[in-house]
Amino acid sequence: MEESKLTPQEVVNYLDKYIIGQNEAKKAVAIAVRNRYRRMNVKGELKDEIIPKNIIMIGSTGVGKTEIARRLAKLVNAPFVKVEASKYTEVGYVGRDVESMVRDLVEFSINMVKKEHTKRFDEKAKTNVNRRILDALLPRDPGAQPQRTNPLANIFQAVAKSAGMPGFDGPVQDQQQGREAGREEGCEGAPSESYQSTYDKIKKMLDEGRLETKMIEIEVKESQMPLVEVFSNQGLEEMGFNMGSMFSGMFPERKKKKTVSVADARSLLYAEEINRLIDPDAITKEALFRVENNGIIFIDEIDKIAGARETRGPDVSREGVQRDILPILEGTSVSTKYGPVKTDHILFVAAGAFHISKPSDLIPELQGRFPIRVELKSLTCEDFIRILSEPKNSLIKQYQALLAAENVELEFDGSAIAEIAKIAFELNSTLENIGARRLYTVCEKILESVLFEVPSPDIARVAIDENYVREHLGDIVRSKDLNKYFL
Ligand SMILES: Nc1ncnc2c1ncn2[C@@H]1O[C@H](COP(=O)(O)OP(=O)(O)OP(=O)(O)O)[C@@H](O)[C@H]1O
Ligand SMILES: [Mg+2]
Repeated sequence: MEESKLTPQEVVNYLDKYIIGQNEAKKAVAIAVRNRYRRMNVKGELKDEIIPKNIIMIGSTGVGKTEIARRLAKLVNAPFVKVEASKYTEVGYVGRDVESMVRDLVEFSINMVKKEHTKRFDEKAKTNVNRRILDALLPRDPGAQPQRTNPLANIFQAVAKSAGMPGFDGPVQDQQQGREAGREEGCEGAPSESYQSTYDKIKKMLDEGRLETKMIEIEVKESQMPLVEVFSNQGLEEMGFNMGSMFSGMFPERKKKKTVSVADARSLLYAEEINRLIDPDAITKEALFRVENNGIIFIDEIDKIAGARETRGPDVSREGVQRDILPILEGTSVSTKYGPVKTDHILFVAAGAFHISKPSDLIPELQGRFPIRVELKSLTCEDFIRILSEPKNSLIKQYQALLAAENVELEFDGSAIAEIAKIAFELNSTLENIGARRLYTVCEKILESVLFEVPSPDIARVAIDENYVREHLGDIVRSKDLNKYFL
């Protein structure tokens, strides 16, 4: 059971690579993450008593709240979902109760663990797939000795048959499996020399990828339950039933012959082999453990369910949603299709701009469940300069990569970056403050013509300086009626 062993400082260092400033928020989440690890190492009763200190991040739009949560999730390798609180106030959101956030988290965790297990068995599955493809490519060796099945299996078959057990009058293994087993256990008759050399040749060609388009016939399992899927989609699933797995055992597995290219066979058989190798119960168990002990739920837009006690319009009351969320925060058991999940130790990080409402407009019980409050600062012009250039995924690097795909070299000099930051900052103060998102709109405008014109034989390099920025934006910034321009 992996969990993050990162120290708070390491978490902050990582976040620094993507997010400029907002040190207080970074510190708070870093501590929260480390506290999970600390709790896991606490012995005895206290372990259960230590509940996560949930965090509420307060800051206007576009200052990095969601970005911090997103990066954190990637870093700590913990199950993570992000939900918008306002979603639960929408009327007609049929079947989407607040508990669905926990189910989504479980789903995420299952996928995450499944991926890890798949990786673990990747090599073995590929070996098996290759063997099955080879079997399909190469007819059985006519010169080999006929003994093909495991002698033990023969004895077992005879015993089973005499005991009257049904289903044991056919060969124990189908031809293909027989050959697989034979090759593995060496009980297939010694292959003739010419067969072996053909086999080796074909294997070599296959390994070199020279047979990918060749058509072969393979046997694959038929998936069975289209009807059940239709029923299981919503409704019942919300109640924690898994119709698919309830019924899957009721249908016999059917196999189907298919003629496909080697390349297609590879992916078809790979899925089958992986499913045979991984253990769904182990995956479920580990996934639920991770949700309960390391899960993080990020509730965005929490300010949208604060305040305004009366309900206007057809929406579900905001306070109602807060009351619904409360038990999940307090610790309850949510039934999911993989089993019940306890929410006591899930970490909740909430975020909101709180322009109109204040955190104190949340019902007191909910406020009490978010003991840590951090404020994210509004971004300054200097921050913008850094945001444009420093992060690993900075906007400028993104545009450079996009244009590099057209073999165009894009360069920004320092003066250009300073100018863009200045203009974005000015626009934020004159129009609405949309934080770093303003940089997106400004950069897009500046680069619009380049992005439109390439590819072109005349453009191999574009150098952007202060003047270029002004030329492409100056009028707009100087214009009295800024609103006219949709920046
Ligand atoms: N401090 C920052 N450092 C680097 N990039 C930032 C920062 N703040 C915002 N950004 C950029 O702006 C984008 C929007 O930020 P984010 O999604 O975090 O906003 P938010 O604070 O969640 O706003 P909202 O309240 O509207 O949800 C991010 O994807 C990121 O690229
Ligand atoms: Mg956000």
